[in-house]
Amino acid sequence: MENDILSFVPSEMTDPAPYHLLTSIVAPRPIAWVSTISAAGVPNLAPFSFYNAVAGFPPTIMFSVSYRRREPREKDTLRNVKEVDEFVVHVVDEAMAEAMVQTAVEFSYEVDEFQIAGLKTITSHDIRPLRLADAPVAMECKLTQLVPVEGATNVMILGRVLRFHIHTEFYRPELGLVDTVRMKPITRLGGAVEYTKIGELFSLEAP
Ligand SMILES: Cc1cc2nc3c(=O)[nH]c(=O)nc-3n(C[C@H](O)[C@H](O)[C@H](O)COP(=O)(O)O)c2cc1C
Repeated sequence: MENDILSFVPSEMTDPAPYHLLTSIVAPRPIAWVSTISAAGVPNLAPFSFYNAVAGFPPTIMFSVSYRRREPREKDTLRNVKEVDEFVVHVVDEAMAEAMVQTAVEFSYEVDEFQIAGLKTITSHDIRPLRLADAPVAMECKLTQLVPVEGATNVMILGRVLRFHIHTEFYRPELGLVDTVRMKPITRLGGAVEYTKIGELFSLEAP
């Protein structure tokens, strides 16, 4: 130990201790609420916070899916994306937080989480998976890459945004931006139950 600094070596720790440290450090994380559909037409909805934007043009996002917690098998979202290479990513706002966690339960493949959480759906414009009518933003995406994460069960799913749907009240046409503060997205911290809301806003100009 150096003075007041603790050091941890992941290979000397037991799973899931490194996960807990990492997710409390890389925080707050945005949440992708992802809608997919199986080849047989069963809809699926689940949240993922290993999520970010990775390119601006063409607009591209990634999220990372691990194996299920209690079964050594891939999650329904990944299975669906392999069958139907399309998905919708939604923003989770404060009002939808409770519904979002209900869709994180590891249900069996046939279960439709939209029904379980009582969520209103509408058809997408360019792709097959449904989208949430009440989410402030929905992005219709086409799968571009599946990237296995070395040494982990995770697979990174990369997709190109084909269409943005934004509720009018949140769009700022003069800037071409969404009003993120008004949208009230929730983000995830470490541990199983900690989330945060948007904090204080300030401006900073690059020199
Ligand atoms: C806020 C939140 C974020 C999550 N992030 C991830 C993630 O990034 N990767 C992952 O594999 N699971 C994540 N999970 C767990 C999945 O949502 C959960 O395993 C879900 O049941 C997967 O559903 P599926 O089998 O229908 O795809 C998260 C759960 C919550 C509540």
